[in-house]
Amino acid sequence: MLSTIPINLDKVRKEDLDRETLRVGIIAELDAVNLYEQLAVMTENRNIKKLLLDIAKEEKTHVGEFQALLLKQDEEQKRELEEGKKEIDELIK
Ligand SMILES: [Fe+2]
Repeated sequence: MLSTIPINLDKVRKEDLDRETLRVGIIAELDAVNLYEQLAVMTENRNIKKLLLDIAKEEKTHVGEFQALLLKQDEEQKRELEEGKKEIDELIK
């Protein structure tokens, strides 16, 4: 993604804008996790690898921050997230 908003926020209804913004934030953070982990695999420099993996871990925290706020603003998302967890627990038990 590298700093490109994947949707046109101008076309988002005003009442949906905060939720859409938080979802874009989640997408950006997940993209960053992938980028840093891929770069970490590519380098043979131990310190750079360590730094990249540490930053990737921080990005996972950022995902959690965006998600936590999103779940406070989107009850349906919160319910469906819990439903997804239940379905996976059932699938892999
Ligand atoms: Fe981040």
